[in-house]
Amino acid sequence: MVRYTNVSVRQLDFPKGIDDALKVRIAVFVEEQKYTLESELDNHDEGSYHWAAYCDKENEDGSIEKNVPVGTIRMIPKPGNIAKLGRLAVLNTARGLYIGQLLVKELIDFCKKNDYHTIVLHSQYPRRGFYAKLGFVIEQGEEIFSEDGTPHIRMFMRNI
Ligand SMILES: CC(C)(COP(=O)(O)OP(=O)(O)OC[C@H]1O[C@@H](n2cnc3c(N)ncnc32)[C@H](O)[C@@H]1OP(=O)(O)O)[C@@H](O)C(=O)NCCC(=O)NCCS
Repeated sequence: MVRYTNVSVRQLDFPKGIDDALKVRIAVFVEEQKYTLESELDNHDEGSYHWAAYCDKENEDGSIEKNVPVGTIRMIPKPGNIAKLGRLAVLNTARGLYIGQLLVKELIDFCKKNDYHTIVLHSQYPRRGFYAKLGFVIEQGEEIFSEDGTPHIRMFMRNI
């Protein structure tokens, strides 16, 4: 079994640095979840903030690869000091290690330090429990909607 250790999260520069984020996003959203490449590569990468999580990866044959990108997240700045969280993905072999949570916490910290008061996200409906554990809430009146063909729900973290 593959083992991941030494996780760290780094902010990426656009456009040079985001190749690592795109590798993870394509593996998860396009290859695993079957979203189209066109919907994945939308026009919001420019002007957004990007982070990637890196690990040392121990392969089954005992070899070790250093600094392997295993997760990513993006923040789109919106008017009125609102931040939109999106494109959160962790490679399926690296799930359950709190890497997703670490990425969201990094984004929340960044928002706090940079005077964003609200974070909004569109959760894939089956993932809402993940965000609820981090303090995001579905506000009264929010309804399930379809985005890129799958059910989503808006969630908020206010007064951060
Ligand atoms: C959703 C995702 C990012 C979670 O990443 P992860 O690193 O595996 O999650 P973590 O290990 O940080 O999980 C933290 C906690 O959330 C829980 N959790 C994880 N996925 C969950 C889900 N789908 N529903 C409810 N809870 C979930 C974990 O059990 C853990 O809970 P615990 O503290 O009680 O042990 C990952 O599963 C993923 O990339 N999925 C595919 C892409 C995707 O769906 N992205 C989100 C689009 S909205």
